[in-house]
Amino acid sequence: MSEDKSRHHAAEQQTADVSEAQIAVHWPEEDYFSPSNQFIAQANLADPGVFARFSLDNFPEYFKEFADLLDWYKYWETTFDASHPPFWRWFVGGRINACYNCVDRHLPRYRNKTAIHFVPEPENEAIQHLTYQELFVRVNEFAALLRDFGGLKAGDRVTLHMPMVAELPITMLACARLGVIHSQVFSGFSGKACGDRVSDSGSRLLITMDAYSRAGELIDHKQKADTAVMEAAGTGHQVDKVLIWQRYPGKYSSPTKLVEGRDVIINDVLKEFRGKRVEPVQMPAEAPLFLMYTSGTTGRPKGCQHSTGGYLAYVTWTSKYIQDIHPEDVYWCMADIGWITGHSYIVYGPLALAASSVVYEGVPMYPDAGRPWRIAENLDVNIFHTSPTAIRALRRNGPDEPAKYNFHFKHMTTVGEPIEPEVWKWYHTVVGKGEAVIVDTWWQTENGGFLCSTVPAIHKMKPGSTGPAIPGIHPVIYDDEGTELPGGSGRAGNICIRNPWPGSFQTIWKDPDRYVSQYYSRYCHDPASKDWRDWPYMAGDGAVQAADGYYRILGRIDDVINVAGHRLGTKEIESAALLVPDVAEAAVVPVADPIKGKVPDLYVSLKPGLVPSVKLANKVTASVVSQIGAIARPRRVVIVPDMPKTRSGKIMRRVLAAISNHQDPGDVSTLANPEIVEQIKELAR
Ligand code: WT7
Repeated sequence: MSEDKSRHHAAEQQTADVSEAQIAVHWPEEDYFSPSNQFIAQANLADPGVFARFSLDNFPEYFKEFADLLDWYKYWETTFDASHPPFWRWFVGGRINACYNCVDRHLPRYRNKTAIHFVPEPENEAIQHLTYQELFVRVNEFAALLRDFGGLKAGDRVTLHMPMVAELPITMLACARLGVIHSQVFSGFSGKACGDRVSDSGSRLLITMDAYSRAGELIDHKQKADTAVMEAAGTGHQVDKVLIWQRYPGKYSSPTKLVEGRDVIINDVLKEFRGKRVEPVQMPAEAPLFLMYTSGTTGRPKGCQHSTGGYLAYVTWTSKYIQDIHPEDVYWCMADIGWITGHSYIVYGPLALAASSVVYEGVPMYPDAGRPWRIAENLDVNIFHTSPTAIRALRRNGPDEPAKYNFHFKHMTTVGEPIEPEVWKWYHTVVGKGEAVIVDTWWQTENGGFLCSTVPAIHKMKPGSTGPAIPGIHPVIYDDEGTELPGGSGRAGNICIRNPWPGSFQTIWKDPDRYVSQYYSRYCHDPASKDWRDWPYMAGDGAVQAADGYYRILGRIDDVINVAGHRLGTKEIESAALLVPDVAEAAVVPVADPIKGKVPDLYVSLKPGLVPSVKLANKVTASVVSQIGAIARPRRVVIVPDMPKTRSGKIMRRVLAAISNHQDPGDVSTLANPEIVEQIKELAR
């Protein structure tokens, strides 16, 4: 290839190459920090022998240890079935109920122990402490309602669009008790986004709440249900009932009217189910437990389908040994249950271990940056779990707040994005008061639970790096040509996992082809192979492994932007912009942000003859917010006369990204319209 041609070729690769990702993280390797002897002495896992036990030679049987943490109605016959790669099946033949494992089985010992501390956002509202007994009662009554009033049975899907309230885990567990597949949509997502998911999952029932508190405001949430039902109807899918929880029982807190014959206030109907008990349904290990929609490279979100037995085994083991959760711990994960982190590490993992799990309704900074630490002090939280975005915001707005409160964490987690070493050190010194261990856990919606992390009592911590893989996970880094990079090479490539694991999603709902093509095709050399070794899982992240075996995640290699630890597809945002009739083309690029890690910048060009205006830019923003939700709001909308394009007409997002990030766009001479770059620079100043 001539130099010119190869340059052209590289330019056309756009966002799909690793060097792009490498822009994201470039800090040097840091010194280690050690866990305290006090932590090690009480840890659930301190025996380094675990790694030999979980070596690839012992795959797949070592995962039996995960499933043995659960109670099974019927023990499985086959630990791992690889007969239809890459549709792996775990604990085949086993029968289990997830709700039973998270609630019923704890009653003999922990009946009167708090299962859920619900912390309302308004600080003058009392914290609610739900014991395991109370949780049992409420889950049973609601399961009875879902079955006898809602007509739901095992295998049906139901969409939840609920805020962070105790009723959310209650609803999830009631579904799990019946074998009903729940699909919780993040409450911040728009009604339209919810409607798409209702329709894709084929949910006849939508469960929501009238209102909830956010940043000091009681938000009308029920209105989104109306939009969702309409949106679903537009795709030819009918919703029969909308079940509405009342944020304040006995009082309807939304100005949005109820729709006759469709909308039902749960709190009213629930009275008929008082004292009702529902036998947990003995589900096959392989039955889906829930769907979790996430963004990918196309405009259509994918419903990641998670299993019952494999998933629950995976989150229980990782909660016990990576989160170091003991039943007597008070554990607070500040994520939203609407994301996978909340499913795995607020609800299923901690409750399977009989811990007390905190559910906080509001934003961390309300009414001030001391709020999380008052909650921690009040509830005696000793395990804390959050994202770099939240840590950055708390550090900026209240660097000295943690010292004012009497709380002591033994263990803290960071998840969702790379964390800058100086932010990590503030977390360690100020929030952790130098006493807490930190795990930086790397994983994804598709994975069910952690893939990489230090084992807190065994490994030292290294700020800015996640750690080695957890026991049982065996990563490999490939370059773009599919050549394996030597372990510890310090070179960037695409991180993959060599072996299947029980927490991994089973498929994309209604789209098995996409499941194969997105995650397994690229590095599988023999699509006919029945050997799992030929099917590495491609995560879609760039990564390097240092000589000590620790991985550093560099960021997405595809068209996904990680905003505040939440995944957004650039295509979804672009599609929303294109709904504005004046817009001809749209391109979204990630911009580095001091708090949120990344935020989207949206470039649009207009149809011929149209004149740019602030009004039009606002219209584009409004379309993004109504289509997806406020989390996708672009930092700004830049209206350009034309997009930078390759000669084959592809938009060069890389050039736009460089402009937005005040970086050198490099050589643009091979573009079809190189002169546009200077003009865009002016406009995007
Ligand atoms: C993407 C997955 C599952 C947790 C919440 C996000 C990025 C996740 C880390 C980390 C650096 C991280 C990756 C990944 N990511 N954890 N510890 N360090 N990057 O789940 O929405 O599915 O996003 O988040 O890029 O692919 P998600």
